[in-house]
Amino acid sequence: MSANRPLRIAVFASGSGSNFQALAEAIRGGGIDASIDLVVCDKPAAYVLERAQSFDIETFVFRPKEYASREAYEEQIVAKLREKGIDLVVMAGYMRLVTNVLVEPFYGRMINIHPALLPAFPGMDGVGQALAYGAKITGATVHFVDGGTDTGPIIAQQAVPIEDDDTREELGARIQQAEHALIPAVVKWIAEGRVSLDGRKVTVQRS
Ligand code: GRF
Repeated sequence: MSANRPLRIAVFASGSGSNFQALAEAIRGGGIDASIDLVVCDKPAAYVLERAQSFDIETFVFRPKEYASREAYEEQIVAKLREKGIDLVVMAGYMRLVTNVLVEPFYGRMINIHPALLPAFPGMDGVGQALAYGAKITGATVHFVDGGTDTGPIIAQQAVPIEDDDTREELGARIQQAEHALIPAVVKWIAEGRVSLDGRKVTVQRS
């Protein structure tokens, strides 16, 4: 993806938004030709909304229960993404399954960060799953979003060793550190038009 204007990003999040913050700070710091133009959130009390406000970024907040179906709220989201001219959707702790209403128009332009080395430990609590399994190495994965749960083509991964005495919190914190570096790096590659997708295979051109 290569645009001759800054890449326009929407971040989808349901919780704290530390990945949103890492990306927003990296963009503000310069060197990434992009802007975050929208935060989409399904939890009106989520801390990410305060973070978005402090960066003066518009938010689209919805309550899933008020809609007849997942498709119904996704239609509104897609309309909003179009209205804002969004080029790239970054899912960062967005805790909802997605349907074709969203995936089809944004396939190849929608990425997710997952706290494990996919395809190991997809779905909920990737950190806890790796610990419970007794894995020695886990990490963070950024991948394109397809219709499945954390199944889309992998763009980048960062390994994080698991220490024998790690708690969930300690390991989770180290994985989040890795995520906070990985997300801005991948967004920079995409903004520079260096990421291409061919089937399951993602290639990142060296700069
Ligand atoms: C991250 O660990 C991400 O991998 C997972 O949800 C978490 C979101 O954290 N999908 P935050 O809201 O960005 O702090």
